[in-house]
Amino acid sequence: MVDWELRYQSGDTPWEKGSASPALIELLEKFRDWGLGPVLVPGCGLGHDVRVLASMGISVVGVDLAPSALDRAREFQHVGAESYELGNFFDPKWQVDRQFSAIWEHTCFCAIDPSDRARYVAAAAGCLVDGGVLAGVFFLTPFDPGEDATGPPFGVSLEDLDKWFSPWFERLDGWVPAAAYPGREGREWVGLFRKLVKA
Ligand SMILES: C[S@@+](CC[C@H](N)C(=O)[O-])C[C@H]1O[C@@H](n2cnc3c(N)ncnc32)[C@H](O)[C@@H]1O
Repeated sequence: MVDWELRYQSGDTPWEKGSASPALIELLEKFRDWGLGPVLVPGCGLGHDVRVLASMGISVVGVDLAPSALDRAREFQHVGAESYELGNFFDPKWQVDRQFSAIWEHTCFCAIDPSDRARYVAAAAGCLVDGGVLAGVFFLTPFDPGEDATGPPFGVSLEDLDKWFSPWFERLDGWVPAAAYPGREGREWVGLFRKLVKA
């Protein structure tokens, strides 16, 4: 079990690149239908992606369970209607009365223990409006062959992604982004899922 707070306190944060996900920047150029907001960024870390979305006039909430990450996120200048909340995205109590029009997820699904994937998808469905979209970066091949393959990040196959998401979501689209952080080229996959409207 990863102690995320300890990782931030000790500076052991290799995922922290100091800027928003290149895949999000690319996505924003072609996908603008984030609904009326607010948009949720689960596992937002220092909030670089939160601020990019907010700078486009979108109301955004970033949630993370590591206080140190949020302390640092709040040190950045406000760019729009962004806010940060300390909380566990999986906690049903955190989800009470939350309705987001969309979710942007950047290596949160791939960071959590794979045994928590069903909880993750249920939480995402639980706080999205019907028809709301979840877009995110997933790792299909996080490691080179022979590399120490202990996650996080934990890779996931497309087949397994569909298995986890299909009770609540339909997959609309997916692609390997043209731009990625150095070292992540060709390893990331952007998925677009829409929450099913259930009768
Ligand atoms: C690999 S980091 C990615 C952070 C950020 N998205 C980024 O790319 O810089 C995963 C983040 O998810 C957070 N996290 C893990 N499980 C969580 C949960 N159940 N609820 C909220 N945040 C969680 C961690 O504290 C950590 O900040």
